[in-house]
Amino acid sequence: MKKQRILFLGPPGAGKGTQASMICESDDICHLSTGDLLRAEVASGTSLGKQASLVMSKGELVGDSLVLSIVEKKLSNISKGWLLDGYPRNINQAKALGELLHKLKQPIQVVVLFEIDDDLLVQRLLGRGRSDDNEEVIRHRLRIYKEKTTPLIDYYSKDGLLKFVKGDGEVSEISKCIEEILS
Ligand code: AP5
Repeated sequence: MKKQRILFLGPPGAGKGTQASMICESDDICHLSTGDLLRAEVASGTSLGKQASLVMSKGELVGDSLVLSIVEKKLSNISKGWLLDGYPRNINQAKALGELLHKLKQPIQVVVLFEIDDDLLVQRLLGRGRSDDNEEVIRHRLRIYKEKTTPLIDYYSKDGLLKFVKGDGEVSEISKCIEEILS
């Protein structure tokens, strides 16, 4: 049976959001992007959004407990499959997610790691032009990714959950590779 509890891991600009939207639409599962959820909080001017806004504009990670509260609320109310995009981002978040999913009896089925060259990421993100997509902040996000998020590669490979996909190339080709992984 096709996998329906999926985690996407990879640096900023690797194409996680692009691929996640396509899969979630075709497989009718829920796309949970913590970046999108946080930006929605910022746009609505909630107190959570106000706390997150400055941190996000600098390319730092928003506090673990704040992000967990968003993810927990969403995951606890989903009655179908899901794809987590941009969460977890450090070991502490991964442990908290593991506990939550254990409680919900919904273990992760696969972790897809996007691999791509730094310079290509920077080019892509400069072309996208989101408010946190200027070169200085992009490079900082990349440093944070390497320092805080890459330890998750070992963390999930120990569970045998990790699969790799090349993040460069045509969107449709990458999509095919992911489809194979999920099948
Ligand atoms: P988030 O929104 O997760 O941003 P990010 O990690 O920087 O990732 P992106 O969305 O930029 O990259 P992506 O891999 O999804 O690429 P995309 O598909 O968009 O997080 C933003 C901020 O929120 C963080 O810095 C942090 O402050 C906070 N945050 C979020 N989650 C958090 C957490 N768990 N804990 C703490 N803080 C958190 O593609 C990028 C561009 O490339 C697009 O223009 C796209 O069209 C293009 N593209 C995609 N695929 C291809 C392709 N194959 N070829 C050519 N172009 C392509």
